Amino acid sequence: MKIIMLGAPGAGKGTQAKQIADKYSIPHISTGDIFRANLKAGTELGKKAKEYMDQGLLVPDELTCDLVMDRISQDDCKNGFVLDGFPRTIPQAEALDAALTKIGQKMDYAVDVDVPDENIINRMSGRRACLNCGATYHIVSIPTKVEGVCDRCGSPVVLRDDDQPETVKKRLEVYHAQTQPLIDYYKKQNILKSVDGTQPMEEVFRAIVEILGA
Ligand code: AP5
Repeated sequence: MKIIMLGAPGAGKGTQAKQIADKYSIPHISTGDIFRANLKAGTELGKKAKEYMDQGLLVPDELTCDLVMDRISQDDCKNGFVLDGFPRTIPQAEALDAALTKIGQKMDYAVDVDVPDENIINRMSGRRACLNCGATYHIVSIPTKVEGVCDRCGSPVVLRDDDQPETVKKRLEVYHAQTQPLIDYYKKQNILKSVDGTQPMEEVFRAIVEILGA
């Protein structure tokens, strides 16, 4: 099963994508996580991506597309994958379609996790992320067992640089201008499914499983 998670920054794409990956035993591919891992490792890609991420802007398509195409061609993606944060622009979606068409495949679902902007800023200011293993928490809805320490790997959890309120506002603007058009793009392909992302996480997941099938 090949799934795209759509939605504004902070809509809960990552939270849901991780659970989908576990349930259906397919890899979770998050471009944001890939950029952050590169940044942590001090690679050129990480340094370049940071310039854009810190301003709330998208990393250029030419740095992003090859990376994803390479990842989905790996062996563990043979039975499908869940894309989280990609595609984010029409050219990225077209590049993905073209790469899949070449091998006689296509995406099965684009799941839009719908959350209004006013809920987003709150969520982002409470999010805490582990920069080591990528786990995410929320100071109110999913707190860590020990304050400031990742339950999974024991590393510190922090407010991401791009979760500062001014940067979140910019990310939302960029989302509406560049990513939201993908909703129509996938509607036209008849693979768009929408879920109400303002519900509790378990309810959102239940709605997604209903769409994907048990
Ligand atoms: P990325 O890491 O992909 O960020 P994003 O899309 O902005 O999404 P987030 O990770 O911020 O949010 P999410 O929707 O996954 O929400 P989460 O589950 O964490 O990208 C970062 C940057 O990298 C981009 O800005 C860009 O610069 C660059 N980039 C990445 N991909 C790119 C691409 N393809 N092209 C170009 N540039 C790219 O949830 C958020 C919070 O809410 C958490 O605290 C969570 O616990 C909580 N929460 C989740 N669900 C619920 C719920 N139902 N109720 C209450 N709280 C909830």
